[in-house]
Amino acid sequence: MFKGVLFDLDGVITDTAEYHYQAWKKLGSEIGISIDRQFNEQLKGVSREDSLNRMLEHGGKSSTYTTEELAELAARKNENYVKMIQKVSPKDVYPGILDLLENLRQAGIKISLASASKNGPFLLKQMALTDYFDGVADPAKLQAGKPAPDIFIEAAEIVGLSPNECIGIEDAQAGITAIKASGALPIGIGQPEQLGYDIPLVASTRELTLEFLTNCWKN
Ligand code: BG6
Ligand code: MG
Repeated sequence: MFKGVLFDLDGVITDTAEYHYQAWKKLGSEIGISIDRQFNEQLKGVSREDSLNRMLEHGGKSSTYTTEELAELAARKNENYVKMIQKVSPKDVYPGILDLLENLRQAGIKISLASASKNGPFLLKQMALTDYFDGVADPAKLQAGKPAPDIFIEAAEIVGLSPNECIGIEDAQAGITAIKASGALPIGIGQPEQLGYDIPLVASTRELTLEFLTNCWKN
């Protein structure tokens, strides 16, 4: 049996992936770069700084800005995003997630957060979920962001486990790659065209029951 579950946050626990998209789209429109949902798949799970680089590359503006200007653009995106998430509340937790957290806790399975977002702790608090988490990996402390495995390794270690004793849950291409590289068992939320045909996928978080996770672990 698995001993821990390593959760991504944005797009897994709540719909903040949409706010990240809207905030990048707004920044893009201010600097003359247009992005769509298809391109956004490449930003999901990726750190703020790496997302900005990918967006500038996409718009052919990779060498347009100084280091200070890049920092200002990233901060501007975050200010907008932070405004959008002020109203996030327990009502916004995706269906099935609270039951899953409750059942994992009762089964004595460790719960750890492996989000690339520096806003993760704030969001857990807004949704009244902080107490369910035995550990929250700090993305600021890590060398490499997703698709590197570092954050999943850290999320497992801070709850006293090795990744190969854990399941990782993700909605992003970069995140699935990171889980695989860490040695944890990936479960994806989304479609195989984006996340691959080789891992268990659910279309909705409603399907993420303890029973489903247990079956994925056995197979
Ligand atoms: C990830 C999101 O969880 O966190 C990305 O999927 C985001 O879209 C990244 O860029 C970093 O988030 P933040 O809140 O620190 O800018
Ligand atoms: Mg995500």
